Amino acid sequence: MSKSLSQIGLPALGLSALALAIAVTYANRNHGESRIESLETRISQVQAQESSANEQAQAQASRAAELEQKIADVQAAAMERMASADLTTPAPTSDGAFGIGRTALAEEIAAWDVDVLPGGRGLPEGSGDALIGEEVFVKKCASCHGDFAEGVDNWPVLAGGFDTLADEDPVKTVGSYWPHLSTAWDYISRSMPFGEAGTLTADETYAIVAYILYSNDLVDDDFVLSNENFAEVDMYNMNGFVIDDRPELEYEKWRTEPCMKNCKDEVEITMRSVFLVNTPAEGGSESVMNHSSVEGLPTFSSEGPSFIPAATTKPAEETVAKAEPATQNAEETNDNAALIAAGKKAFKKCKACHKIGEGAKNASGPILTDIVGSPAGQVDGFKYSKALKEAAEDGLVWDAAALDAFLTKPKEFIKKTKMSFGGLKKENDRLAIIEYLKTNGE
Ligand code: HEC
Ligand code: HEC
Repeated sequence: MSKSLSQIGLPALGLSALALAIAVTYANRNHGESRIESLETRISQVQAQESSANEQAQAQASRAAELEQKIADVQAAAMERMASADLTTPAPTSDGAFGIGRTALAEEIAAWDVDVLPGGRGLPEGSGDALIGEEVFVKKCASCHGDFAEGVDNWPVLAGGFDTLADEDPVKTVGSYWPHLSTAWDYISRSMPFGEAGTLTADETYAIVAYILYSNDLVDDDFVLSNENFAEVDMYNMNGFVIDDRPELEYEKWRTEPCMKNCKDEVEITMRSVFLVNTPAEGGSESVMNHSSVEGLPTFSSEGPSFIPAATTKPAEETVAKAEPATQNAEETNDNAALIAAGKKAFKKCKACHKIGEGAKNASGPILTDIVGSPAGQVDGFKYSKALKEAAEDGLVWDAAALDAFLTKPKEFIKKTKMSFGGLKKENDRLAIIEYLKTNGE
C-alpha cells in the first residue's frame, strides 16, 4: 500500500522539478540574473522536499509490512490452535438423555462457586478490623448508607432497628434482622458498592463487615474479623427464623397416589370472586368482592347443581297482570299487582347482593326486609360503608323518595357508598322495585 504511495509520489515530484527546470531556461532567456538565482534556490528547496517525502514513504512502507506480518502471525497462531485444540474436537458427550454438553471443568466450577455459606464455607483467607472498616466504609459506602450505616435519604439502613421487628413497619437491617453474617459478607463482596460491584478486596470486605457489626453495637471497635473467627459471631436475629422441616414432616403425606376421580362427595362454592356490575362508561371497574356470603348460591354434587339460580327461571308473574279487570277497584288492585310483579322481576338486579323476606340473611349487601320507611344503615350485623353510616346519622330515612333518588344513581346520592350498582335509569323500574320492597318479597 505505502509502496504504491511512494511510486505515485516520486513521478509527481519529478514532474514538478522538470517544470521548474523548463521555467529556468525560459527565465534565463527573458529575465534578469536575479530571477534565475531565486528559481535555482526554489529548485534546491523542492529537491529537499522530494527526499524527505521519499523518506516518509519508506517509513510508511516498512510500518505496513510490519503490520502485515503481525496479522499473518495472529492468523497462523489461530490456525494452529484450531488444528490442535478443543475448538474443533467435539465436546465430550454426557450420559444425559440428550447426549449433549460436557462435564464442567474444575476451573469453571471454581469461577462460579463464589458464594459464602452460613458456616463460613467459601470465605477467602483474610481479615480486617472495625477501624479500618470505618475508613473504607466512609470512602466507599457512606454516600448512600451514611457514616454510621444509618442510611442516607431512602438508601438502605444497615444498622439499628432492634426493637422494631414486632412492629407493623419493622426496620429490618443487617443488625436487627439478618440471621447469618455470611449473607452480609457475600452480598457486600458481590454487589457493593452499588454500581462498582466486585471492586472490594477480601480484607476490605472483612473490615467493612466488622465495621457494620460495630455500628450495630454487636462488637467493640478493636474487633478483628477473619475467616478464622467468622463462624463464631452471633447475630441478633439468628434464632428468629423457622427451619423449613416440610421435607421431613409433610412431603410424605403428598407422596401417596393422587386421587383423580370423585375425590370429594360434595363441592361447594364458598366465595364468588366478583360480581360484575354495569361496566361504567368512563372506565374503571365497578366490580365488587363478595366477602362473605354463601347465601343463595348453588352447591354442586355428582348429581349436578343443587338448584339453578333464579335469574334463569322464567317469570310467571305476567300472567297475573294480564288477568281482565272486573271492576274499577279490582283494576286498581291488579295495577298494583302488576307493578309488584314487575318489581319482583326488576329486583333480580339486586338479588346478587340483597336478600329480602323471612329468613333472609345479609349478603354482600344488607337484607332489605322492611326497608321502605325505615332509617338507613340499621341492619344488624351488616358492615356499612362510612359514607352510608354518616348519611344514616344525618337522619336518612328510606322513604319512597329517598329510595327513588338512591336507586337512580347510588353513587350520586351517597358518594362513596360501597353499593357497586350503576343505577336504574327507568323510573318505572324504580317505582316497581319500591312497590315490591314494600311487600318484603311476598
Ligand atoms: C450508590 C449508592 C450505594 C453505595 C455507594 C453503596 N450501596 Fe449498599 N446498597 C445500595 C442500594 C440501592 C441497596 C439496595 C439494593 C437492592 O435492594 O437491590 C444497597 C444494599 C446494601 C446492603 C443490603 C441492605 C439490606 O438490608 O438489604 C448492604 C449490606 C450494603 N448495601 C452494603 C454496602 C457497603 C458495605 C457499601 C460500600 C462498600 C455499599 N453498600 C455501597 C446503594 C449503595
Ligand atoms: C353489587 C352488590 C349490590 C347490588 C347489585 C345492589 N346493592 Fe344495594 N347495597 C349494596 C351494599 C354493599 C350496600 C351497603 C352500602 C353501604 O354501606 O354504603 C347496599 C345498600 C343498599 C340500601 C341501603 C340499605 C340500608 O340498610 O340502609 C338499599 C335500600 C339498597 N342497597 C337497595 C338496593 C336495590 C333496590 C338494588 C337493586 C336495584 C340494589 N341495592 C343493588 C350492594 C348492592
